[in-house]
Amino acid sequence: MEDTEFQALYALKMRECEEVLARYLPEAKGEQKTLLEAMNYSLLAGGKRLRPILMRETFRMLGGRGRVIEPFMAAMEMIHTYSLVHDDLPAMDNDEMRRGKHTTWYVYGDAMGILAGDGLLNYAFETAMKGFDFAEKKEDEPAQAKVYRYRAVADALRTLAEKAGIYRMIGGQALDVESEKKQYPLSESQLIFVHKHKTAALIEGSMMVGAILAGGSEKTVERIAECAEKIGIAFQIQDDILDVEGDSAELGKNTGSDEKDHKSTYVTIHGMEKAKADVEQLSREARQILSQIRGDHEFLEQLVLWLIDRRF
Ligand code: IPE
Ligand code: IPE
Ligand code: MG
Ligand code: MG
Ligand code: MG
Repeated sequence: MEDTEFQALYALKMRECEEVLARYLPEAKGEQKTLLEAMNYSLLAGGKRLRPILMRETFRMLGGRGRVIEPFMAAMEMIHTYSLVHDDLPAMDNDEMRRGKHTTWYVYGDAMGILAGDGLLNYAFETAMKGFDFAEKKEDEPAQAKVYRYRAVADALRTLAEKAGIYRMIGGQALDVESEKKQYPLSESQLIFVHKHKTAALIEGSMMVGAILAGGSEKTVERIAECAEKIGIAFQIQDDILDVEGDSAELGKNTGSDEKDHKSTYVTIHGMEKAKADVEQLSREARQILSQIRGDHEFLEQLVLWLIDRRF
């Protein structure tokens, strides 16, 4: 696939994701209107929509059909967006720009920023549970088919909850902020812990949910998780690289945020050259796994390749 063809396809898939998201947004009305507006402000601000795209493409690759994936795509983007809304708060990374706009706390104040994040997290689960509506029995099908679909939706929910939780994403964010407050550098193994947890976890969750809802075997889901972990670590290393040598306008967020916060990053600990080499190596390993999976993996492989050189 040519690069231009890939770019056009990615743009199309982004639009598809945004249509799905739009269907699951809370309507901004009622006494808590400001809260709902703040939630939608951050969700609609833009971004790459990488996680829902990875989710749907993994689902497609493994032969998944139907719309059960859609509430989960929206839910994952809500969880990711809440993590960014909170990550930007003055008490955390203290950043003023995100997705090309002022951050949620900057526009709505700290208190509403915290509540918008809380709201997005809870609403994500309310949304994902709508997946059960797609598991209803269809005419002319054995009752067992419905049981299998319910089981898949329940497994997908469990994965979503675990990957976002205290032993995964939130745990990673905790060590990240703690290292900053103590102002001493992380060890190499602590840094990998942070990258695996704060970032790779949601990428793993995205691809695993896609695999689970497509009815993938336990072994397939495990292979997908391995692949996603590599993509996730590479993604965070690239984020650390872009914080140093990216362009604020392209990124939609300010560069130099890690240095301002005295963060340990892959670049401060390993240097720029190794950081870049490791992004390439991890991406190669991820593509290798994808290539061994039965199904059409061309788009996902191309996506992993694109992430190495991403500028935003
Ligand atoms: C930013 O994620 C936070 C990290 C985990 C590095 P993205 O780079 O995917 O942010 P958006 O969704 O495109 O704004
Ligand atoms: C954020 O990592 C990871 C999560 C929000 C879970 P960063 O703090 O490096 O992300 P950016 O650079 O602000 O997007
Ligand atoms: Mg952070
Ligand atoms: Mg940050
Ligand atoms: Mg960063």
